Amino acid sequence: MDPKDFRNCMGHFATGVTVVTSETETKTHGFTVNSFTSVSLDPMLVLVSVDRNTKALDVLKDNNFIVNVLRDDQQDTAMHFAGRPQDPKPFEWEKGLLGQRIKHSLAHIECEPWVAYDGGDHVLYLGEVKNFEYYSGQPLLYFCGKFSEVTGK
Ligand SMILES: Cc1cc2nc3c(=O)[nH]c(=O)nc-3n(C[C@H](O)[C@H](O)[C@H](O)COP(=O)(O)O)c2cc1C
Repeated sequence: MDPKDFRNCMGHFATGVTVVTSETETKTHGFTVNSFTSVSLDPMLVLVSVDRNTKALDVLKDNNFIVNVLRDDQQDTAMHFAGRPQDPKPFEWEKGLLGQRIKHSLAHIECEPWVAYDGGDHVLYLGEVKNFEYYSGQPLLYFCGKFSEVTGK
């Protein structure tokens, strides 16, 4: 089995798009994530799968994180936090309970660290939800390596 083809196969599973933000000693770090899922209601747990080659790997270790669920008009923000920084930056920060978060997101899920598991070339970070907010609007989607939008709105 070919790993690149496996990636193509997994791309057929449509997802939303998030930016996960965390505070470091000097700044707020953010990175684009689509491997985000809810795990448990009691306690409230969510999971993000983090590539071992990212800066985020160290940032998220034993650290709070905020999942910012992106809207359909926040594709530039997704690219900004996926290694293609835009100038001027296409978003504004706002203060959340556990750190800086992206204003006008579709939802915010703020977490304290729960546990980390080995996930092969990724690490699975579970967070315990300490605050969540959501708003009406349409999500940014990711399908077969491309951004997409919900049709038939
Ligand atoms: C749509 C999309 C989804 C992504 N999902 C993930 C993901 O779930 N986990 C991950 O580690 N990287 C993911 N990435 C890649 C990271 O966003 C990218 O490597 C980023 O530049 C890492 O930043 P950092 O090294 O500053 O932490 C995704 C990229 C895109 C465009």
